[in-house]
Amino acid sequence: MDHFLYRDGKLHAEDVPLTEIAADVGTPFYCYSTATLTRHFQLFQDALAGMDHLVCFAVKSLSNQAVLRVLSDLGAGMDVVSEGEYRRAQAAGVPGERIVFSGVGKTREEMAYALIHGIRQFNVESAEELRVLSDVAAGLGKTAPITLRVNPDVDAKTHEKIATGRKEDKFGVPISAARAIYAEAATLPGIEVVGVDVHIGSQLTDLAPFEAAFTKIADLTRDLRAEGHVIRRLDLGGGLGIPYTRSNETPPLPMDYGAMIKRVLGDLDVEIEIEPGRLISGNAGILVASVIYLKQGEGRDFLILDAAMNDLIRPAMYGAHHDIIPVIEAQAASLQRPVDIVGPVCESGDTFAKQRAMPALCAGDLVAFRSAGAYGAVMSSEYNTRPLIPEVLVQGDQYAVIRARPSFDEMINRDKLPAWL
Ligand code: LLP
Repeated sequence: MDHFLYRDGKLHAEDVPLTEIAADVGTPFYCYSTATLTRHFQLFQDALAGMDHLVCFAVKSLSNQAVLRVLSDLGAGMDVVSEGEYRRAQAAGVPGERIVFSGVGKTREEMAYALIHGIRQFNVESAEELRVLSDVAAGLGKTAPITLRVNPDVDAKTHEKIATGRKEDKFGVPISAARAIYAEAATLPGIEVVGVDVHIGSQLTDLAPFEAAFTKIADLTRDLRAEGHVIRRLDLGGGLGIPYTRSNETPPLPMDYGAMIKRVLGDLDVEIEIEPGRLISGNAGILVASVIYLKQGEGRDFLILDAAMNDLIRPAMYGAHHDIIPVIEAQAASLQRPVDIVGPVCESGDTFAKQRAMPALCAGDLVAFRSAGAYGAVMSSEYNTRPLIPEVLVQGDQYAVIRARPSFDEMINRDKLPAWL
């Protein structure tokens, strides 16, 4: 459920008509709903109620500071994967003890920054990284709390590019090697083992792969404890999928996910961390664009928008589906016609939808891409020298621009001519 609904024939974000924001800010823009972010975060809180837990929002899915502040004020922790994300979380006011640091390629500089400013734990992804972290921490006179991310060799049954828990994926250490690396960790200076971490992929639409992975983690936890390690925390990663179409998708609910976690891991007496991104931010955001032209091609018509693949890359990159709806509600009886919905970028991959049934639209009309909050703005680029588009946050009847559209000068003046030109 989200808070982007038609009222009096106009699509609203909470209590604000999107026509009003479009007139003020210009298109294209991203728009987020505080009530939806809050509701989705709360679903996880409720799902894990009764267990000691921390919901760490995956900052990579939507990293605007205002969004991080909304979630942090609700008690969220943050899962970061770079110094940049750490600094964003920090700038949003999130204390270090609520930040976990994931990622296969943490540098010494990133480790040092997090150690100096405070960190809940590093999710270490290799023996090599563990040794470097020990060196950095010991050098600073600090202790790095760690989990080891294990790769359970479970197929998440999701899109090839976002499955991360099979042995051929670059993530984590093979579960078969985990005990030896924990044994090494116990001997290293500057390292304190606190738990185990796993993340098998994103946009999972079935609980079975999660359960298979968590069962392996439960067994590993028992083995590690028997060997004398203190395993007080399990980080279960993110990955719970969302419905991208209104009709036929029914991914598992957070409540069922939570019940499964309690069933599989409840007797271990551990603190649970989860790292959801998409389920919190995905349906809390839309992308609003204008129609530039309705172009009549040979045998097909093209709806050319002012948003392009550089603003929302998911359709081009993963073949992802986003519902695209008119901001002014179509009359129930109005005729739907198939059109290709495209952007202005100079490649055929800049196609959002092919032969999508749409009501009659013409130049100047507004459309909204649903479910664009996660991995939308964060993956955008300036390809074709198109400025990054603004982000707007709505709360009730208020809205604010939380990232402004840069001017052409700001964008172009970042280039510097060398002295010899
Ligand atoms: N934790 C770790 C270690 C991750 O790598 C990820 C996502 C998450 C948590 C959050 O997963 P979520 O709950 O959002 O599924 N750009 C792709 C998705 C990439 C996901 C990368 N890792 C997309 O647009 O579908």
